[in-house]
Amino acid sequence: MRHDHIISAKQLSRADIEEVLDRAAEVAADPEAFADRHENALLGLLFFEPSTRTKMSFTAAVKRLGGDVVDMGTVESSSVKKGESLADTVRVVEGYADALVLRHPSEGSAQMASEFVDVPLINAGDGAGQHPTQTLLDLYTIRESAGFDDLTIGIMGDLKYGRTVHSLAHALTTVDADQHFISPESLQLPRSVRYDLHEEGATIREHTELEPVLSELDVLYVTRIQAERFPDESEYRAVAGEYQIDAETLEAARDDLTVMHPLPRVDEIDHDIDGTDHAHYFQQAHNGVPVRMALLDLVLEGQR
Ligand code: NCD
Repeated sequence: MRHDHIISAKQLSRADIEEVLDRAAEVAADPEAFADRHENALLGLLFFEPSTRTKMSFTAAVKRLGGDVVDMGTVESSSVKKGESLADTVRVVEGYADALVLRHPSEGSAQMASEFVDVPLINAGDGAGQHPTQTLLDLYTIRESAGFDDLTIGIMGDLKYGRTVHSLAHALTTVDADQHFISPESLQLPRSVRYDLHEEGATIREHTELEPVLSELDVLYVTRIQAERFPDESEYRAVAGEYQIDAETLEAARDDLTVMHPLPRVDEIDHDIDGTDHAHYFQQAHNGVPVRMALLDLVLEGQR
């Protein structure tokens, strides 16, 4: 893979995607073989927004490759509190680490920050923009469960602010999937994303109800309404609690429907689905470790 920085799913070709997923499958089959692959490598963690899965799985990944993290910690405990700019922070931290992982509330921040550093910078979520490493673990999960051939996927929930959706939609276009987008009208895909998908030749359809398309789906990807991104709380309240699924909803689905969610969930997926064969979201979260190990392996290998 020939990328210094991993900023957007738009930069990933089909060959890039297959390379990361194949490497992740090798890691999952024999993690010990990768145990000292990047001894002494240091990954700089810059998380300006809350994170559980992304931060912990990046940490687990670099440690399982023989490396370690240097972590800025919370915004409150860092010099950001003193008014330091993002550009200055990344310029300093690149001197402490072999690669950087950045999560930030502003869309475009990862692209901007990457222009100030020479070490690889990985976007772990820039506001409502992109979340490309989530997409890679989503694709790994889809390839394992449903495969990419003749794939029909429904993506439901907050399509406007959900960065995991914006990244995933580009990658699904790259692997030629049929995409159905299900959301309230107020939370449809941003026009810019829809425009890019059309330019890339995507097959997409938009719906306000799940029911008419549910039986066609191989995968249903459910997302959380991104409360923290709404400029107006009343706008959030108007849509909160919509688009929930439970075991009864799935009676109309194919028996082999794969249900995914980037997590955290609030109330979109009822707990009565957790014990069914449809539920792939915890496995999906676990796939974050081999997939991020594979990505770090490729990115750090490229640095040598
Ligand atoms: C997602 C995110 O941060 O965009 N979480 C994650 O990384 N798994 C999804 C979300 O917060 O809803």
